[in-house]
Amino acid sequence: MEFAGRDIISIRDFSREEIDYILKTAQAMEPLAKKGSDMLKGKILATLFFEPSTRTRLSFEAAMHKLGGSTIGFAEAEIASVRKGENLADTVRTVENYADVIAIRHPLEGAARLAAEFAKVPIINGGSGAEEHPTQALLDLYTILKEKGMIDGLKIALVGDLRYGRTVHSLAYALSNYDVELCLVSPESLKMRREVLEEIKGKISVTEETDIAKVIPNLDVLYVTRIQKERFPDPAEYMKVKGSYRIDLELLKKAKKDMIILHPLPRVDEIASEVDGTPHARYFQQVWNGIVMRMALLALILGAVK
Ligand code: NCD
Repeated sequence: MEFAGRDIISIRDFSREEIDYILKTAQAMEPLAKKGSDMLKGKILATLFFEPSTRTRLSFEAAMHKLGGSTIGFAEAEIASVRKGENLADTVRTVENYADVIAIRHPLEGAARLAAEFAKVPIINGGSGAEEHPTQALLDLYTILKEKGMIDGLKIALVGDLRYGRTVHSLAYALSNYDVELCLVSPESLKMRREVLEEIKGKISVTEETDIAKVIPNLDVLYVTRIQKERFPDPAEYMKVKGSYRIDLELLKKAKKDMIILHPLPRVDEIASEVDGTPHARYFQQVWNGIVMRMALLALILGAVK
C-alpha cells in the first residue's frame, strides 16, 4: 500500500484495505494528538478555502501544527487573487511552490479533481460543492469504529439532506465497503443522489424512508445532517423542507440505549440542544477524531508514516 504523494479527491479512490489501514494509522496518532510530534518538521500545508469552514480548515491546520509542520493559506477567497480573476489552475500552480500539500474547499463539483490535475504536490479535497468530502467520511468511519468497536454488522441511518449534503455522499460510498445495513432518511425532494444510490445498492443493503420515527428503534448509528440551504437553487424549495427533522428527547425514547448520534456539524436546528447531554450524543467527540484522522492523512501522504 502506497500513500506517499497521493491525492485525496474521492473516497472511491480508496479500497477497503486502504481505508482500514488509514483507520489504524489514526488510532496510532491518538497519543501524538495529545503530546505533539516533530514528524512533519519543515513541511508546509496550504489551505485554500473558497467556501466557509470552521472544523475542516482549523483541524487540518491544527493537525499540521501538532506534527511539527506549519500552514499558510486563505479562508476568504475575496481577499486572494481569485478576486482579480485568477483561475484555479493558476492559483494551484502558484501555491505548489510554497507548500508540500494543499487542502482545498471549493463550491464547484470537480474543483479538487481539476486542482490535482495541475498540481505537482498532493491535493486534499476539503469539500467539492455538493459532491464529496472524503476526509469527513474517514473521520466519521473512525468515530464509528472507536465508539462501536467495529463497522461490520451495524445498522446505520443517514438523515437529512442527502441530495446536497456532500458528507453523506462520501460516507455512503465509504460504508458500502463494509457489511452494514444502510437506511437513507430524507424528505422526498432531498433523496440520495441517484449516482450514489446506484453504486452502493449493488454492494450493501439500502432502504429509503421519509419517517425517522419508523426506523429509529433498530439503529446503532444515527448520522444527522443540516439541510444545505445555500445549495438550493430556489429559496421556496428550501422553505418547504426547512425543519423537516428534529432529533429530540421524545424521539430518542424509541432508540436503543447504545445508539450513537453523529453530525458533521455545523448544526442548525436538526438536533435539539437537550440531546447534547445524553449518552447518545457523540458529535463533539467526532470533532476530536477529525484532528486525529487529519494527522494520519498528512503523515501518510507526506511519507512520514509508511
Ligand atoms: C460539512 C460541510 O462543509 O460539508 N461540514 C464539515 O465539513 N464538517 C457539513 C455542512 O456544511 O453541513
